[in-house]
Amino acid sequence: MTIGIDRVRAETPGTAHVLHFNNAGAALPPRPVLDAQVHHLEREAAIGGYEAEAEAEERLARTYDAIARMLGCTTDEVALVENATRAWDMAFYAMPFEPGDRILTSRSAYASNHIACLQVAERTGAEVEVVPHDASGTVDVDALRSMMDDRVALIALTHVPTNGGLVNPAAEVGAVARDADVPLLLDACQSAGQLPLPVDELGCTMLSATGRKYLRGPRGTGFLYVQRDWIERLEPPLLDLHAATWTGPDTYEIHPDARRFETWEGHVAGFVGLGVAVDYALDRGDSGSPALDAIAHRVRALAATLRTALGGVPGVTVHDQGRTRCGITTFTAEQREAEAVQRALRDRDVNVSVSPPSSTRLDAEKRGLPALVRASVHYYNTEAEIERFVAALHSALED
Ligand SMILES: Cc1ncc(COP(=O)(O)O)c(C=O)c1O
Repeated sequence: MTIGIDRVRAETPGTAHVLHFNNAGAALPPRPVLDAQVHHLEREAAIGGYEAEAEAEERLARTYDAIARMLGCTTDEVALVENATRAWDMAFYAMPFEPGDRILTSRSAYASNHIACLQVAERTGAEVEVVPHDASGTVDVDALRSMMDDRVALIALTHVPTNGGLVNPAAEVGAVARDADVPLLLDACQSAGQLPLPVDELGCTMLSATGRKYLRGPRGTGFLYVQRDWIERLEPPLLDLHAATWTGPDTYEIHPDARRFETWEGHVAGFVGLGVAVDYALDRGDSGSPALDAIAHRVRALAATLRTALGGVPGVTVHDQGRTRCGITTFTAEQREAEAVQRALRDRDVNVSVSPPSSTRLDAEKRGLPALVRASVHYYNTEAEIERFVAALHSALED
């Protein structure tokens, strides 16, 4: 099963300018995504924003269709929002926590999510507990199972953490959640676009993701999936006239589908572009083969090559954990701050990002991690780029 890399690169303008290993930050969008947004912005300028939105009704509907196709859900289970954090928050803050409820989370939790857990615990008297990990850093599913009791109100799992290549076993966690009849909120921010996300197989009740990372969509876009029979059990923390209808002077009705988690005003050009990005990802496979499997396979192979190559650079330590790994690689270089490495690479037209301990404090403190250089590959990257990357890193570290 192959992806047409030459074609994909030809359709990705950025590949002509930079060596982009910052796909976990924001991936390079393909031309159709860019064109869809520019077209919409041009229509907004030409005929007016509301009129352009009305004209784009079908294209917007296609965005829900594309996401539903990717997740294997129905369009009424999908809400379009501005980023993954807002998607996660709209689900999390809608949970009716009570004193003594237990919220089980993982060591790889993203800062924003964990801050929200701490706030909700303070407000409601719920307790936040971190599920143990095995030696590979992977969430320990047996330990999770042994923690389940009728006070567990939510399992919040980060599928792929922001600071490394680890992939948590979402489907196994989902099976524990299902057996215990506890909802699973899956943070798929870093996995959407690089791993298949069949929500039914993953057993997740809610899933949050962003557009700009591995999905190669526009910035300022994200989405939330909520399983049909949970939608009406979740009262969104914020409502507007799109999420609810003002039915009388003193009454309102909350929308019965996932649009209750949306707001009226939004980044229409971005949402149109997001749908094109999801379709673009889903169409990468040869006919008949699941495209995200092909993407996952190539991304994993490229990242493994990168890790091996980094292992040969003097003074460099790779920090990725996990029994199963994906496209994110994090490393440190002796005597060099991560920011200095990032700057030196940027001077060589190479993009990486920095993962500070504060973005994954539980994990960083446990492992004593400093800020890490994060190099994240996508399927449009090549082995030749990995060689160039390693050469650029050698030269950056010699300066
Ligand atoms: C694991 C994880 N969750 C959530 C987020 C937040 O995503 P967003 O910036 O789209 O809100 C990030 C961002 O890097 C992330 O890595």
